[in-house]
Amino acid sequence: MIDTTSKKFNKDVHFSSATGEWETPQHIFDHLDREFHFTLDPCATHGNAKTERYYTKKDNGLTQSWKGERVFMNPPYGREIGKWISKAWRSGLEEGTLVVCLLPARTDTRWFHRYCVKGTIWFIKGRLKFGGHSSSAPFPSMIVIFPQNWKNVLVPLTVQSPELKETEK
Ligand SMILES: C[S@@+](CC[C@H](N)C(=O)[O-])C[C@H]1O[C@@H](n2cnc3c(N)ncnc32)[C@H](O)[C@@H]1O
Repeated sequence: MIDTTSKKFNKDVHFSSATGEWETPQHIFDHLDREFHFTLDPCATHGNAKTERYYTKKDNGLTQSWKGERVFMNPPYGREIGKWISKAWRSGLEEGTLVVCLLPARTDTRWFHRYCVKGTIWFIKGRLKFGGHSSSAPFPSMIVIFPQNWKNVLVPLTVQSPELKETEK
């Protein structure tokens, strides 16, 4: 079971659907973080960052180096999403770098076929309830991990597939 009582990094975060953001459900982040021990959230605001080190729009996380980091990336879902996934894939090729992405499972897109297929993909059963949203998302989600041989990056950690059955529905 996912422990929904575990510590939140941003206790003062105010989730609002009015922001139009798809903020990661805290229990999903906590579950992945227990396995991957993330060090960087490259697309965030001061209010919704998931790790102590993070980049905001002002820093432009897309132009920063992610080398050597264990990155958790839930990117902006607009037109720029392909650039973020391209960056995640390229960063995963850099030494000691791991990028775990939470993405809409849009398997008909160019970015899915260009980049996601080069990673390890876990499709999430059911729909997630993103922060600030009272109902489940109108789209399915997936976790994509770069590089594909991510277990090598994680040594000496023990890694197990997360139980994602706790997702909505
Ligand atoms: C889907 S939300 C994810 C927020 C948070 N990291 C999480 O996982 O809940 C994407 C975030 O990326 C931020 N963002 C948009 N463009 C950005 C940029 N160029 N650099 C860094 N962050 C950016 C948005 O403000 C938004 O908070």
